[in-house]
Amino acid sequence: MSDVPVIAIDGPSGSGKGTVAAAVAEQLGFVLLDSGALYRVLGIAASKYAVDLDDHAAIADLAGRLDIQFGKSGPGSVWLDGEDVTLQIRTDRGSELASLVGAIPAARRALFERQISFRREPGLVADGRDMGSVVFPDARLKIYLTASLEERARRRYKQLIGKGIDAILPDLLRDLKERDARDSQRSISPLQPAEDAVVLETTDLEIDQVVKQVMDLVRLRLGGSRA
Ligand code: C5P
Repeated sequence: MSDVPVIAIDGPSGSGKGTVAAAVAEQLGFVLLDSGALYRVLGIAASKYAVDLDDHAAIADLAGRLDIQFGKSGPGSVWLDGEDVTLQIRTDRGSELASLVGAIPAARRALFERQISFRREPGLVADGRDMGSVVFPDARLKIYLTASLEERARRRYKQLIGKGIDAILPDLLRDLKERDARDSQRSISPLQPAEDAVVLETTDLEIDQVVKQVMDLVRLRLGGSRA
């Protein structure tokens, strides 16, 4: 087991975990893992290379071979096999494909090692669905962020519009509901808080308030030397 501290931030789509994880990683100077981006890239790659989603062995094989680069053309940028897919992976189609490949056990196993490799000094902030429960069970701090479905859809709407991507609120609400159901009901790594996670309900909180609460918890768990 590695001594490198991990802060796991899990939760459903639109819970704010991506924004909170990025802010916490920045304040601590820690490495950031956006595990959802890996599932999104795998989904887009399956579509790009016309790999059948029902062929689980081929999807897992693809997951093992992908050349994924983060931050190549600025913070948050994602490249797949030399192509900038930053915007593409965030589309509704990208979300749906991610959720579909995320339900394939062999794909999750294939992405496991890739996720572990982000654990580097001085520490890691990992954001996803199963960071605390499966990938980093020895995380020093496990946070599970939640918010109401309506609030999460509103946040996703603002986020997409802010990025110049077209969005329709009722459609987002419906898609989120479907994705929540698929992510929660799948047999492998279903979306649920780790037993020892701190659950933060964020519906009525601003993002800054959530970041502050998480940073207070980090200081308690990791001590003053790191935080
Ligand atoms: O977090 P994000 O919304 O980018 O994740 C997209 C999809 O990827 C999720 O709906 C989920 O199906 C899948 N995912 C996953 N496990 C993770 C991260 C994301 O299954 N650790």
